[in-house]
Amino acid sequence: MSAASANDGIAELWIPGPTQVRPEILASCAEPMIGHRTPEMREVIAALDPHLHRAFGTDDVSHSVAVHSCTATALMEMGLRAVGPRVLALTQGAFSERFAEIAEALGKDVTRVASPLGARADLARAAKVLSDGEPFDAVTVCASETSTGALTSPEAIGAILANRRGARILMDVVTLLGAGPLELARHGIDFALAGTQKALALPPGLGLYAVSKDMLASAAPSLSYFLDLRLISRTHAEQKPPMTPTIPLLRALRKQLETITGGTLEREWLGMERREGAGEGGWALRFRRHRQMADRVTAFAKDHGLTRFGAAEGETSPSVTTLDVGGRDVKDLVAALTGRGFTIGTGYGALATSCIRIGHMGDHTPARLEALLEALGHLLGGAVPAQ
Ligand SMILES: Cc1ncc(COP(=O)(O)O)c(C=O)c1O
Repeated sequence: MSAASANDGIAELWIPGPTQVRPEILASCAEPMIGHRTPEMREVIAALDPHLHRAFGTDDVSHSVAVHSCTATALMEMGLRAVGPRVLALTQGAFSERFAEIAEALGKDVTRVASPLGARADLARAAKVLSDGEPFDAVTVCASETSTGALTSPEAIGAILANRRGARILMDVVTLLGAGPLELARHGIDFALAGTQKALALPPGLGLYAVSKDMLASAAPSLSYFLDLRLISRTHAEQKPPMTPTIPLLRALRKQLETITGGTLEREWLGMERREGAGEGGWALRFRRHRQMADRVTAFAKDHGLTRFGAAEGETSPSVTTLDVGGRDVKDLVAALTGRGFTIGTGYGALATSCIRIGHMGDHTPARLEALLEALGHLLGGAVPAQ
């Protein structure tokens, strides 16, 4: 069933996260509670790792994967606590900027390489800064910048920053994990973090990460208990969380990861015949569906005279698109669309009054996207641009 077809009269959630959660997943969160030091809980935690490795594009030789009962922002801090003081921060929007601000809050010596809002991270300039002068301990980068919809591909990050003289690459994949392919082991990414409430289509509250064995082995003292990379990674591997985890979410995550890997729903959502795509795994189909929805939004925008903000061709996130609505009143447009059953986002920060954002991610289907675009198309047709 589509995530949104049974929604009790509440508008479907198409903001760039949190996003719509399927009723079956919500139901799994309501199962009777169990203790976190039980064999059942250990089994749930152990079952996650093979799927998480698939999602991050890692394996248990190259990286450890883990979950922690916290938001993605906390994991940015966790990664930064595990590296030395000199940080190169690539900024191109609100979330990459947040990474830099957390580094500053931790007292790091931060150098920014900033790109214009809407562009991808400036990898060429970062490569130059990394190769000249004093070496850095870490580079922070946001692959899918949710505030604009610009994508800086992990492949390009790995390739262009290959010569980084020991700096660890810490990557935010919050709106990329589960939406697009990641091959972090191949691209030499040391640490990548995400949350559950975006393309994995789960309620918020769990952070997910992959960390290279090398970074883990040489992690700096964290000066934190809750955000200690070594402690959380070790106790995850032992299936013994040191504090009470968000048990309902761990169960929901397991269910969702197994469903994605199985691929049956993906085939249904893509409208594929039974045997079509048989050789393609569930994750590949999920990425295909996300790219298809992103491309559809771009095509719709062209047809309706809207411009995609910033992101150039080939540099767009598979999960979120920002559209300039050409002088129309954004608040009115969003409210009218909610009235027609679909909640989308306004632009972020400085773009709040000029743009909308559509979060075409998670378990949203191409069929429901058509319904949303039809409703939006009606409104655009009738809407009078603001003076
Ligand atoms: C790219 C990106 N990074 C970080 C975050 C912060 O995640 P959380 O709210 O789970 O801490 C978000 C949330 O929207 C995001 O989109």
